Amino acid sequence: MGQRKPIVAGNWKMNGSPELIKEIAAVSAQVTSEQREVLIFPPAVLLSEAISAGLECGTQTVSEFDAGAYTGEIQASLVKSLGANYTLVGHSERRSIYGESNEDIANKFAQAQKNGLTPILCIGETQEQRTEGKTEEVVKQQLVSVIEKLGIASLVNSVIAYEPVWAIGTGLTATPEQAQETHKYIRDLLRSYDEQVADALRILYGGSVNESNSELLFAQADIDGGLIGGASLKPQSFKAICESAKG
Ligand code: 13P
Repeated sequence: MGQRKPIVAGNWKMNGSPELIKEIAAVSAQVTSEQREVLIFPPAVLLSEAISAGLECGTQTVSEFDAGAYTGEIQASLVKSLGANYTLVGHSERRSIYGESNEDIANKFAQAQKNGLTPILCIGETQEQRTEGKTEEVVKQQLVSVIEKLGIASLVNSVIAYEPVWAIGTGLTATPEQAQETHKYIRDLLRSYDEQVADALRILYGGSVNESNSELLFAQADIDGGLIGGASLKPQSFKAICESAKG
């Protein structure tokens, strides 16, 4: 298995402030190292401020279109020109609240890459789907929709975040074993397309990660760091989570 440098990414969702950027920038400077990458996904209106503070950043979504009459949308080329290198695509809140389909998300993934942004593709099943035993089927469909449209090679410059919807913001974390089982499923599925791509790809876990559970989660063989919501808004918690990701 190739060496995969872990990523700890904070998804602030529609939270945060210029003050928090300063605090998190101080933390990030302390914990960014050879051992790990630290990324912050602030609200788009704070992106310039976060980049000026020295944070490695991305947006929480991007438009699938190049430019034009799309009121309220975020243009990937502008995100890149501000100095950001990443974007989330397909977060479960975008899927469920804003109705983004697998096809929309594949288009956003393509648009991000076309503009030099690394997409972090978020996938994961709902509680109902898990109860019905459909976890693997759901994450497979979410992944295959990108692979069928853009090819397996498109995953070289990308990151996957497995976020079971039932674990997001609920305090119900997947156990390390549950998370590892699905991460392994994802990597094995990708290996059936291309072993090298699968072995090099970083797969992050997200869903109620905190400073008490991060170490065991990140120690799993196929978990390469985390996508952190609520705890990324608390500088000391975020710092501790970052420190538990070791390359
Ligand atoms: P929480 O860490 O608050 O559960 O959120 C996870 C998430 O959605 C990150 O993208």
